[in-house]
Amino acid sequence: MLILDGKVVSEARRAALKTRIQKFQSSVGRPPHLVVVLVGENAASQVYIRNKVKACESVGMRSTRIDLPSALSQEALNATLLKLNGDDGIDGILVQLPLPSGLREEPVLELISSAKDADAFSYRSLGYLWGGYSRTAPCTPQGVMSILEYYKIPIAGRYAVVVGRSNIVGKPMAHLLTMANATVTVCHSKTLDLRRFTKEADIVVVAAGQPRFLGREDFKQGSIIIDVGMHGTGTSTGPGTAIIKDPGHVSAKVFGDVRFEELEGWAFAATPVPGGVGPMTITTLLENTLSLAEKRLNLK
Ligand code: GUN
Repeated sequence: MLILDGKVVSEARRAALKTRIQKFQSSVGRPPHLVVVLVGENAASQVYIRNKVKACESVGMRSTRIDLPSALSQEALNATLLKLNGDDGIDGILVQLPLPSGLREEPVLELISSAKDADAFSYRSLGYLWGGYSRTAPCTPQGVMSILEYYKIPIAGRYAVVVGRSNIVGKPMAHLLTMANATVTVCHSKTLDLRRFTKEADIVVVAAGQPRFLGREDFKQGSIIIDVGMHGTGTSTGPGTAIIKDPGHVSAKVFGDVRFEELEGWAFAATPVPGGVGPMTITTLLENTLSLAEKRLNLK
């Protein structure tokens, strides 16, 4: 079985990014600049944000972290976003989700300028994506597409099943596969007889948010399995996402949505967890930030 190694793909893409960033720096006179906003003190979000800042450093991108108190008013959060939208020295904006209770996501997704929306979560960004006018897409599903591209997995004409329908993973994943000319079915927690679909598929993307949910018997022999799940010692936060409740506990075992060990001798290719889709999410965030910067400053 071919192991689809997200670390290898990530390294290759980050090397290419570094070169583009140097070119950007020499024509603009500064590196691309991503601002990450964290409201409150969610432990998992702290880890994600730290990793995002570190990743920026690793490719020569500037990052600024803005920490805001959980007691922040919606108006103050909105005002912060408007200021970042208007600052010409900022190329990418990311507001880490989930927001603390009391703050609403919807105004945030309405306000972030699509020209700076590094996550591609805003309604306008999603509209562009759906219309086929976008050069950015939400990071995790776009990272999956990069893995498939790197390993030259043919997509056109094939039958793909996406398990999960979240805004962050399932829905955009289905769209990206459709745009790559796959025939796509979206399955979810209310799907009756899930195996009927997954067992027919040439490509299955599993973002169910259920640890070790699917195994060999659920897939067709020779198929390609992409596992978006990430489960540690904490509780899942919904389809395709999970919180590692104990982020400092580095030896904690991490699981995916798929029983990977059952796939050897059965699947044609599969992503492991950890080391599959995970590393690609942040790499895609860096790519999105640079692409937005180049577009906004008319460099491409
Ligand atoms: N929360 C979980 N995943 C993500 C992500 O990719 N971006 C943001 N902004 N918040 C998240």
